[in-house]
Amino acid sequence: MSDFPQITIVGAGNVGATAALFTLMHDLADVVLIDVAEGLPQGKALDLMHTRSIENFGPTVRGTNDYHDTAGSDLIVITAGVARKPGMTRDDLLAINSKIMRDVIADAVAASPDALVLCVTNPLDIMTYLAFKESGLPSNRVLGMGGVLDSARFTYAIAEATGAPLDAIDALAIGAHGDAMTPIAAHSTVDDQAITETLPVEQIDALVERTTFGGAEVVALLKTGSAFVAPAASVVAMVRALLSDKVTELPSCVYLQGQYGIDDVYMSVPARINKTGVVSVEEIELGKTDLARLQQSAATVATALDELGLRG
Ligand code: LAC
Repeated sequence: MSDFPQITIVGAGNVGATAALFTLMHDLADVVLIDVAEGLPQGKALDLMHTRSIENFGPTVRGTNDYHDTAGSDLIVITAGVARKPGMTRDDLLAINSKIMRDVIADAVAASPDALVLCVTNPLDIMTYLAFKESGLPSNRVLGMGGVLDSARFTYAIAEATGAPLDAIDALAIGAHGDAMTPIAAHSTVDDQAITETLPVEQIDALVERTTFGGAEVVALLKTGSAFVAPAASVVAMVRALLSDKVTELPSCVYLQGQYGIDDVYMSVPARINKTGVVSVEEIELGKTDLARLQQSAATVATALDELGLRG
């Protein structure tokens, strides 16, 4: 028996396999990598196991096409689905990825009924809501990864613009993981000073734009798919928090029930999370404009959920 917790990663594509690598490298958990493609998860797992003696990580990884092999996981990370190509928005993936999400969620949860579920598949906020509905799990045990990545991109943009060292920057981007993302400049600081106090409005607008379209910028450059290293690293930051007794505050895609005047939508806001799932959803102080933008962001998610007939 291994001393490590076990996570299932559904989807052995770029995000899934890279999340497996970071999970192993940080000695966080044994990984079961599952995919519908025969040989793919087994091949990626074998490649990772060949890496083990070089990088000296403790946990192990197995690849499979059978959910029975994922039984007893503490956490299920769902990355399955297709990625964007140039010119596509995340919402263009809705039809195909909602079918995939419906296919995988029931089997993954049946094999690991006590697990938390972390969604990564796009369009993220909608897929997380779908996973919540389809799994029948309480909302505090289903969450998604959006805000960690978006905040990392905001941090990058601020660092590039100001030259400040990363450890001096604390940036926050919340809202939908899409074009209606809500980077919050008033809660983003360099040396504990809000950038709204130190940078001109036009520059902040440019940083917000760079953050919001950071994913699309990568897609346009790669031409063959979307970003996966920063998304996988963001997943693993959440995996670390979701396997721990300790409570960590991270911007997380969580179920909103009235907070910020938003109801029955999954979307990223600051939340305190640990191995029990979402411990609490934080309601930070927002200025009028930021609150309006966040509510507008939620409205875009709600519209898509209503179109899918998922709410209510
Ligand atoms: C991105 C995709 C993975 O933001 O949503 O790069």
